Amino acid sequence: MYAQYTTMNKSETYQSLLPQLKALVAGESDAIANMANVAAALHEAFGFWWTGFYRVEGDSLVLGPFQGPIACTRIPYGRGVCGTAWQRGETVVVPDVHAFAGHIACSSASNSEIVVPVIRDGQVIAVLDIDSTDYSAFDETDQLYLEQIANILFKSEQCTAF
Ligand code: SME
Repeated sequence: MYAQYTTMNKSETYQSLLPQLKALVAGESDAIANMANVAAALHEAFGFWWTGFYRVEGDSLVLGPFQGPIACTRIPYGRGVCGTAWQRGETVVVPDVHAFAGHIACSSASNSEIVVPVIRDGQVIAVLDIDSTDYSAFDETDQLYLEQIANILFKSEQCTAF
């Protein structure tokens, strides 16, 4: 975790990150490059277990830029936490992944998870997926800021899509 973030609480860390991420992506129109840097920045700032994107491709989510251990490459629509967030078009917060029916365990070390859909022109085009080894690591504060972060990336006028 970056030293500067160790004295901040969760909200302060997100508030500090948000303008930095906006600046980081502002000059780059390539969505993959921006997803890669956003995943890295979040992962470093919070010390999550796994932080990354899955991109919608046909009827599946396909693994995109991420930080952390290797992960499953394809997730069908409606499957797992990621496929559920895609299907619902809304954020899914899972305090205990072992209690989530259909959870896809890419790593046995993960105990809680948040998945935020990335929406462009009313369509889910990707999801931001974050896993923690802690139970109940994610709450409405994470949801509030991660939804903002996920969606600064893919404004239609800015991004080349994928
Ligand atoms: N747990 C996810 C799968 C992706 S990994 O966590 C990186 C799910 O249930 O969709």
